[in-house]
Amino acid sequence: MAIRYSDTDKIFTIDTEHTTYQMKVDAYGFLLHLYYGRRVNGSTEYLLTYYDRGFSGNPYDAGENRTYSMSELPQEFPSLGNGDYRNVAFAVENADGTVSCDLRYRGHEIKDGKYGLKGLPAVYAGEQEAQTLEIYMEDAVSGACVTLLYGVLPGVDIITRSAVVKNAGEGKLYLERVQSACLDFLCGEYDLITFYGRHAMERNFQRAKIGHGSYVIGSRRGTSSHQYNPMMILAEHETTEDFGSAYAMSFVYSGNFKGEVQMGQFNQIRALLGLNDEMFRYPLAPGECFYAPEVILTYTDRGLNRLSQNLHRCIRRHICRGSYKETVRPVLVNSWEASYFDFTGDSIYELACHAKEVGVEMLVMDDGWFGTRNDDNGGLGDWYVNEEKLNGTLGELIRRINDLGIKFGIWVEPEMVSEDSELYRRHPDWALAIPNRHPVRSRNQLVLDFSRKEVVDEVFRQICAVLDQGNIEYLKWDMNRSLMDIYSAATKDQGRVMYDYVLGLYDFLERLLQRYPKLLIEGCSGGGGRFDAGMLYYTPQIWCSDNTDAADRLKIQYGTSFGYPSSAVGAHVSAVPNHQTGRNMPMRTRAVVAMSGTFGYELDLGKLTDEEKQEIKEQIARYHKYAPLIQNGLYYRLTNPFESEVCAWEYLSEDGREALVSAVMQEIHGNMNVNYIKLKGLRDDAYYREQTSGRVYAGAALMEAGLPLPVETGEYRAYQLHFAEVS
Ligand code: GLA
Repeated sequence: MAIRYSDTDKIFTIDTEHTTYQMKVDAYGFLLHLYYGRRVNGSTEYLLTYYDRGFSGNPYDAGENRTYSMSELPQEFPSLGNGDYRNVAFAVENADGTVSCDLRYRGHEIKDGKYGLKGLPAVYAGEQEAQTLEIYMEDAVSGACVTLLYGVLPGVDIITRSAVVKNAGEGKLYLERVQSACLDFLCGEYDLITFYGRHAMERNFQRAKIGHGSYVIGSRRGTSSHQYNPMMILAEHETTEDFGSAYAMSFVYSGNFKGEVQMGQFNQIRALLGLNDEMFRYPLAPGECFYAPEVILTYTDRGLNRLSQNLHRCIRRHICRGSYKETVRPVLVNSWEASYFDFTGDSIYELACHAKEVGVEMLVMDDGWFGTRNDDNGGLGDWYVNEEKLNGTLGELIRRINDLGIKFGIWVEPEMVSEDSELYRRHPDWALAIPNRHPVRSRNQLVLDFSRKEVVDEVFRQICAVLDQGNIEYLKWDMNRSLMDIYSAATKDQGRVMYDYVLGLYDFLERLLQRYPKLLIEGCSGGGGRFDAGMLYYTPQIWCSDNTDAADRLKIQYGTSFGYPSSAVGAHVSAVPNHQTGRNMPMRTRAVVAMSGTFGYELDLGKLTDEEKQEIKEQIARYHKYAPLIQNGLYYRLTNPFESEVCAWEYLSEDGREALVSAVMQEIHGNMNVNYIKLKGLRDDAYYREQTSGRVYAGAALMEAGLPLPVETGEYRAYQLHFAEVS
């Protein structure tokens, strides 16, 4: 049993293979957090201490006991109003206009299997693989009832958290803040690791010591954003890739979020992750429920590599769905950087012919095939095929391409509308805009109000009408601006719109998957502006960044790897000089870097020389050989590209018998020194043959002493070394 409840001391214990999570219902019915960390036995209640602290209030029922204060005690779901002055997880405006809530334990249930969340993505697992703990809390005055949900996947060291709020009272409530997970630490010194960025330079790694005060990351853009990823790590100061304690919190949600870490007056640390409370005021009529999106938690005492592997496994096996979940994805060529808006049906067909020649398996026709869309100033919202541009129907084009033996995929951006479109002319009120104000434009487009069902229904109808025109096996779902002007004509409660928008998005995606179960959907938001575990529930891969420069990608993919598996990372080889940076880079290096994701090309294959075409054939053959390892193997970061001359990483089979090491020299100098890289996770007593050189090495030596990389002149040399155990 992963979840146990002891009636004697009212302690809940959740065990996974290597971790323990413990909490307690105290004498007043408060739910106190006790411990989360390496697996331990027995009760950790002794960790709680009680002292009379000035200016720390005491609950009324504690009587004259001035040593009991919610402001000092570790809690599971702190709410505003019961004496806790730290950042809280929950705040409610009651029907009488007061803001106060005092949640007390009313009961619990332990169930087999993993809970799901209505309308939201969530970790899923078989009945035997997971358990669920539901703890019922209630505010006796307002009738606000909260069910705290804990999902446990013991085999993968994952605990999930969420909350369902029900209004069991008689008046209308407004939820002002609902965070999904709170982790209270009574002691310990930690660093906070977050992933910040911007368009075309996402998920840069930042590690900073947690001090007094609050540190906040988040998004108010309606998407999870390029600027901060909704994933954060708390690690002890000494924790490295291979040693030490670390906690990860990853939000399974694709809209506004807030992650907060605060050090309290007695040095206790509180970490919260969940919905952003800005522009959020969710109405709850009597009898209604609100579902907080899920947070994935994992802990390890074996360093950051292991922490990432826990998240990778969880996302690969328990978030991603569909027929491509564990299948190697087709190698594709995307038309965007090949020709942007400047294509015809014939030029797309030609690209498919070149694809055939080099062994690419799928052609993706990107932006520009619909409505009147020959630049990014119009056409969005009119999802009908521009047959003039395509020199015929879409169905004919797909058939011609399929006849070559090439699959076909297409780009869409369903959440958007251009003012210059038929849809906008018909339904101007469907775009988010505040009455009497001009909306903010971005990329010269507006956002459709996806919080309204009739809007989602109409775009869904249009997109299905396109997908039904032929054998479309892949869809790139793009989203190219941030939300502003939050106003929906459909409601008086504007504080619900941003959340309902995301529910509308999920509803659309879910309906697509039900109707086209074999369709592979790749998420995208100007590259990696919505790269989160929520989207991965619907789209097993996401275009990682609009930046295809392999040198920048080393850093972007490094940051991404902390929270997300390579199987989720869209990565393509593009032309040089690179369109975003102007940098030159050997073709081999571009391919080695793109092979740490769902491999593909994004260039005009027709412009390549015969030698380059030959090289691509070899790259694709290599990719096919390594793809299962890349997609399902354990991922190790071998160096930090922000600090090291070489960027190196490794994929290891779960049984430790096969490894693929990739390395790119980021610098070259005169009389260059030798860089050694140390492999990880190999079997100590085994020998491995490197497949290209044929040389045999001892596993322990490769890990302890490392492997010298060659010193060769030329910029950005790349190496791919494949090791297999010698039997
Ligand atoms: C976004 C995407 C690109 C491309 C363009 C098309 O920027 O990230 O890959 O699809 O839109 O307009």
